[in-house]
Amino acid sequence: MLDVCSCAQTSNGVKIFIDSADIEEIKKYLDAGLCDGVTTNPTTFFKLGIRGEDIKKKALEIARLINPRPLSVEVTSENPKEIYRQAKEFSTWALNIAVKVTITDSRGNSLLSVINRLIREGIMVNVTAVMTFNQSILAAKAIHEGAKSSDAKKPHFVSIFLGRIAEEYGIETSFNVVKNFRGWLDLYKFDDVEILAASIRTPENIEYWGRAGAHVMTIPPEAISKSLLSARTKETVAQFIKDAKE
Ligand code: E4P
Repeated sequence: MLDVCSCAQTSNGVKIFIDSADIEEIKKYLDAGLCDGVTTNPTTFFKLGIRGEDIKKKALEIARLINPRPLSVEVTSENPKEIYRQAKEFSTWALNIAVKVTITDSRGNSLLSVINRLIREGIMVNVTAVMTFNQSILAAKAIHEGAKSSDAKKPHFVSIFLGRIAEEYGIETSFNVVKNFRGWLDLYKFDDVEILAASIRTPENIEYWGRAGAHVMTIPPEAISKSLLSARTKETVAQFIKDAKE
């Protein structure tokens, strides 16, 4: 049985980001007060058939729609020079863009130097594809040190791919990564770092990781609509409507 992490009870509550580039879905949850930001990645755009220059157009459309809430857009390179170039470019598109950079490249080489540099230069960064507690604290340290040398007071994110961790090591392992990382951030007062629970697949995932102490849950629209569903609610509403007519 998992406990509710006491650090999950922040005064601002947990934020919800929409894990999608689908404008209609984003609008729907914005109208319902359920959208504090949006996350995308190359796969998100690929699945919607959005390619090349259209990615910039779509990103601008979303950034305007949700402004001042943050929109995460991921670089498409693992070469530090090209990551830097792309990140600088994305950050000129809109003030609310957070540039997503993976914590290492696909061979395991650290990308924390370029991440630290971007933060020092005032760019909002989302460190992504994080899978372990150790990676989380290293990312947090790189962010925190970078933020100390920057005048821009922006939140930065560490995206932990909890669905992928849970698939490999079980849901309790994923819960503990968030819980322990949140405890660590609070202990050392790393206020410039927010834990972003990513890779959410089901309503049950939302319940687990929300309780673990994530600052932000990025949720695909399907998981939000499934969370709203209950056969008993539908049945109860039908009864009220029927009785009201009679
Ligand atoms: C969001 O920021 C992440 O890119 C996304 O949640 C990853 O999800 P996946 O593990 O389903 O690719």
